[in-house]
Amino acid sequence: MIIAIDGPAGVGKSTVAKLLAARLGCLYLDTGALYRAVAWKTLQSGLRPTDHEQVVTLLSSTSLHMQFQNGAMQVLVDGIDVTGELRTPDVTAAASMVSAIPGVREWLLPIQRQIGQRGSVVAEGRDIGTRVFPNAAYKFFLDADANIRVERRHRELVAAGRGGAIEDTYQDLSKRDLRDRTRPIDPLVPAPDARSIDTSTLSPEQVVEQMIAAVSTGL
Ligand code: DC
Repeated sequence: MIIAIDGPAGVGKSTVAKLLAARLGCLYLDTGALYRAVAWKTLQSGLRPTDHEQVVTLLSSTSLHMQFQNGAMQVLVDGIDVTGELRTPDVTAAASMVSAIPGVREWLLPIQRQIGQRGSVVAEGRDIGTRVFPNAAYKFFLDADANIRVERRHRELVAAGRGGAIEDTYQDLSKRDLRDRTRPIDPLVPAPDARSIDTSTLSPEQVVEQMIAAVSTGL
């Protein structure tokens, strides 16, 4: 069984997807981490994330693997565990840029789909219900008021010791949102058969309860 969760940054996807995967005993697949891993390798190699051709060429000599342990996902690039390096501001900005490159999305597609063959998966991202797993048994599209998403993301950054001015978080989120929603390939849009949940006034547990209710009634 595949459960697809899509939505913009700061909407609570990761928290909810992890909780749901734990409740249902599924693997948790964080597809954003894969785009971040490509961004990490791009920066490590001294390339610019806007150098489309060079980034795609780089991928032909790149290996990307995932390990799943205790509900968490680790990402290995060329055999090195880079999980701890994927959430820096530089990698975050570069991930947003490389994710607009068609060749990058193409390259990551089979890597994501392979995980779906390992068993039941809760997968989160931007194009899970529309592109990666269009036949997912359940599809959810999370959204929330932009200011609330900014506040949530800013709180996360502060907790991680990376909190700057909230205005910077606002700018960063707005830029990424616009890029994700308007890119020509696999933009962030709800799948026609996705169930939308506005998380603005809901706790992660309340969102998970709504999802469990949908899954257990087969809706
Ligand atoms: O969810 P995240 O912030 O970790 O994602 C990092 C970037 O990757 C984000 O800017 C959008 C992109 N992404 C994507 O285009 N498609 C996905 N399925 C997941 C993430």
